[in-house]
Amino acid sequence: MSAPRGFQHGVDMRVQIAGIEFPNPVLAASGTFAYGIEFEEIVDLDRIGGFVTKGISREPLPGNPAPRLIETAAGMVNAIGLQNIGVEAFIAEKLPPLARCKCPVIVNVFGFQLQDYLAVIRRLNDTEGIAAYELNVSCPNTHAGGIAFGVDKASLADLVAHARHYSRRPLIVKLSPNVTSIAAMARSAESAGADAISLVNTFVSLSIDIETRRPRLTNVTGGLSGPAIKPIAVRMVWEAAQAVKIPIIGMGGIATAEDAVEFLLAGAAAVQIGTASYADPRAVEHIGSSLAQWCSRHHIAKVSDLTGGMQTGRE
Ligand SMILES: Cc1cc2nc3c(=O)[nH]c(=O)nc-3n(C[C@H](O)[C@H](O)[C@H](O)COP(=O)(O)O)c2cc1C
Repeated sequence: MSAPRGFQHGVDMRVQIAGIEFPNPVLAASGTFAYGIEFEEIVDLDRIGGFVTKGISREPLPGNPAPRLIETAAGMVNAIGLQNIGVEAFIAEKLPPLARCKCPVIVNVFGFQLQDYLAVIRRLNDTEGIAAYELNVSCPNTHAGGIAFGVDKASLADLVAHARHYSRRPLIVKLSPNVTSIAAMARSAESAGADAISLVNTFVSLSIDIETRRPRLTNVTGGLSGPAIKPIAVRMVWEAAQAVKIPIIGMGGIATAEDAVEFLLAGAAAVQIGTASYADPRAVEHIGSSLAQWCSRHHIAKVSDLTGGMQTGRE
């Protein structure tokens, strides 16, 4: 007899975030899992915790010219440039087949002006089959001279408050790690109405080919992800968890169940897997099931009991 949905290896793997029940806390991260449906033949979409689509904008975007992705020590740097098919094609082509999958589908939304974000949200509000929106605030705000929404507290609060007003679905705000105080940004998102926050997005970086003396990416700079960023990401999740009461979804370099446990102990209610899916397209499924085994071995009956369980030794 198979275990009821949400139970694996005798462990209750279900987590609740912003009113959504996830069958387990391991989700696929935006930009590394296409629109989700492309993974249907490789990954059992009914067994994973959920996934976040590639970022969706008002109009289609071709992305940056190649090279736009390079490997670095323990990670990679990408400057994909938010390539996507745009909200109308997403609704027409990707959303209908996604109705087949049982796990929650989160749509990542971005724009270059406040109105772009709101247009995508308002258009998606009319559709079925979406559990929540994740706002990518790491985009250059063209009204603020190209400074990312997510690095300025006032721009972030303004964006989140407007998005909250128009959104008919839970709103997860994905914070940029390229800030001095992640706690201040987390508080700003929470006070403006975010239902949850996710972090971290990639770290701005630069890699140079010393022979040609040129940047390795056509875009010059890109975002660093993968195991190289994990300890910084865990620290940021912990700081954010001290600062807010809303749930946190943690990510950054997770490649094993043990990595995921670190994020949960730091205060995350769930995690996302990004770069690891490049090495193993089934990483999300594998990490979810290993996490259940880890909990079973450690006599943890409910995975949600791990959240915030770090002991600093200063208690
Ligand atoms: C190739 C690539 C594309 C990405 N595209 C997006 C995106 O469209 N929107 C977004 O919010 N994050 C995007 N990200 C960031 C990831 O979702 C994740 O926050 C980051 O990579 C850290 O997790 P990881 O170390 O597990 O990859 C992208 C990351 C990569 C590597």
